[in-house]
Amino acid sequence: MSLDGHALTPPPGSRADWTIDQDWAAYSPGEHQVWMTLYQRQAAQLPGRACDAFLNGLAALDLDRGGIPDFNQINAELGRLTGWSVVAVPGLVPDAVFFEHLANRRFPAGRFIRGPEQLDYLQEPDVFHDVFGHVPMLTDPTFADYMEAYGRGGLRALNQGQLHNLARLYWYTVEFGLLDTPQGLRIYGAGIVSSHAESRFALDDPSPNRLGFDLERLMRTPYRIDDFQQVYFVIRSLRALLDATLQDFGPVYQRLAEAHDVPIAAIKATDRVLTRGTQAYALARN
Ligand code: PHE
Ligand code: FE
Repeated sequence: MSLDGHALTPPPGSRADWTIDQDWAAYSPGEHQVWMTLYQRQAAQLPGRACDAFLNGLAALDLDRGGIPDFNQINAELGRLTGWSVVAVPGLVPDAVFFEHLANRRFPAGRFIRGPEQLDYLQEPDVFHDVFGHVPMLTDPTFADYMEAYGRGGLRALNQGQLHNLARLYWYTVEFGLLDTPQGLRIYGAGIVSSHAESRFALDDPSPNRLGFDLERLMRTPYRIDDFQQVYFVIRSLRALLDATLQDFGPVYQRLAEAHDVPIAAIKATDRVLTRGTQAYALARN
């Protein structure tokens, strides 16, 4: 999502809502090859790691037709399943524009793809992160409703100057969320499923804390954008996530204004601890 709160005008060539054509025919063979390399690595690694909603969505959307998918083809199936669509944007868009799209069941996706020398790390979300990472979950009816509700909540938080806490909810759920299942922990966050290394680290590494989802506790927790997460929040079900966010956040924001942030690697007496992390990875990097 955009971290940019300024009211900017769209760049030349973009529509008023910042969308552009995907221009699928303009991708080069090398760009399609990058998609296929990334797709195959993750498709091989994610069974038993990503949650069923993600894996089912990935299969339903048929994102492996031999290269970067054509948004028109995705949208035919996605629209039928949950009424969502993917729209191309030139890069990060202002928060208000981003939320407005989500509130209308449109997911803004970058159309560019990383270069072959950047398979593992890039700063701006590209089409692989945005489409492979985010779009499969949008085939799930409950998650689809959550994302629309987030868009509406984002517009509201923006008007009230409360985006700070709400952005953490996006980060620790949509981007880096884990789900508890009878078979074990599974990934649903787009930032994890689209990362070859973090899709192992998030589940297997002894370093990070894994804590039960608690809305206000999570909203008090800062996050890092430059490295693997030091804490993951684990939901019991997608339905439980949606239910926890149906309440009016007005009183939540009021309470948060009085509360201190929780240090990123802290564990509180009230936390439901799934893993007490060693933080060895983070300590070695600092
Ligand atoms: N219930 C939130 C509010 O009142 C909206 C919201 C829903 C925010 C889902 C995030 C996710 O603002
Ligand atoms: Fe993302």
